[in-house]
Amino acid sequence: MYICQQRLYNYRNFNNSQWQFRSGINVLYGNNGVGKSNILEAIDYVINKASFKTTNRLNLIKYKEKYSLIQLQIKDNNSSKINNLDVEIRTDKEDEKLRINQKRVTKTELSQFFISSIYTPILVNVVYNGVTSLRSFLDNAIIELKPKLFLDYKNLKDLLYQRALILKTFDFNKPQTNDIFHQITKQYIKTAAKICFYRLAFLKKILPLINKFYKLLNNSADDITIDYISRYINLTNDNLVSETQITNNLTKILDGVFIQEKSAGQNLIGPHRDKIVFMSNSQPISVIFSTGQTQIFCLALILAIHELKTKQNLSYKPSDILLLDDILASLDNTTIVKLFKLLSNYNQVFITNALKLDIYKLTKLTFKEEINELQIK
Ligand SMILES: Nc1ncnc2c1ncn2[C@@H]1O[C@H](COP(=O)(O)OP(=O)(O)O)[C@@H](O)[C@H]1O
Ligand SMILES: [Mg+2]
Repeated sequence: MYICQQRLYNYRNFNNSQWQFRSGINVLYGNNGVGKSNILEAIDYVINKASFKTTNRLNLIKYKEKYSLIQLQIKDNNSSKINNLDVEIRTDKEDEKLRINQKRVTKTELSQFFISSIYTPILVNVVYNGVTSLRSFLDNAIIELKPKLFLDYKNLKDLLYQRALILKTFDFNKPQTNDIFHQITKQYIKTAAKICFYRLAFLKKILPLINKFYKLLNNSADDITIDYISRYINLTNDNLVSETQITNNLTKILDGVFIQEKSAGQNLIGPHRDKIVFMSNSQPISVIFSTGQTQIFCLALILAIHELKTKQNLSYKPSDILLLDDILASLDNTTIVKLFKLLSNYNQVFITNALKLDIYKLTKLTFKEEINELQIK
């Protein structure tokens, strides 16, 4: 399954525009500001109902207009049947109207055709903006892979809030306070240990994939490793710590820091305080990688998460789509050639670039299918 056509009506800078796409690699080129990223955003929006640029869907509607429409025509690689997917976003309605072949459908029904992942240069912020942004990026990826954990993350947030409130405002001379605090702490430890366990399992799975893609694109690359810095987990050996072990450690350490937590009025220990740092040669990559290498790392991270998403056991069989915004500008020619070789294995890829590339000259490759180079004006 692939997207063979997209129409954007009153979407961002577009009045009413339409493009044809192929399966395999599509390169969209054109001057800054013509709307290339908006095209990728719209594709991602139909598949994931989220934008990488904004959390306010009203930003997607063209200025001064009342509604916008994203229409995708999708086609099976082996049959001529075409399905129409569309999303209508209105200023006067809370929800989008989602349709397949003109019939209203739910988010889940619309999402079953494709799995998509998007790379954007803004991702480097995840590396540079410190541990909190990287941790929440990875937590979001974990939730995307295991949606059931969303509730656990929400619980953790609620429990942290309640626990901090008790620490800050309650009188611990009253026996009820101790009881409530004890109960909340117990629930907190349980949820925290679960999240921590899944986080570690995810990191263990993703690390070899990141290294695989990073090295594919960057020959002389050193190993990338992960430092998980936490006061209740000691990751000295390579084995996965069990949930029970994490629970025990956390219980013990929380007992020890009670006085500190009470005087600070804060939760001092837990998954919200753990640090995840990507390292190379025992240094954080944020301090040693070049900007280009950091972009390649971020691309490797996205490709790794994408691989986990596509390898999941789902009852339906979605096709995969990669959306790569402005990746080429930061890559040298050798890396671009390697990237195109790698991308020729994917079902459908969209790459944006400001300049027209003569891909054939550059790659000297013969692809199964031609690369679709499309000028956006
Ligand atoms: N809601 C909107 N209404 C009209 N124009 C918009 C809207 N949102 C963004 N734009 C315009 O879209 C353009 C940016 O498009 P973008 O896809 O980022 O360009 P590029 O081709 O460089 O990737 C900007 O010129 C911006 O003014
Ligand atoms: Mg752009």
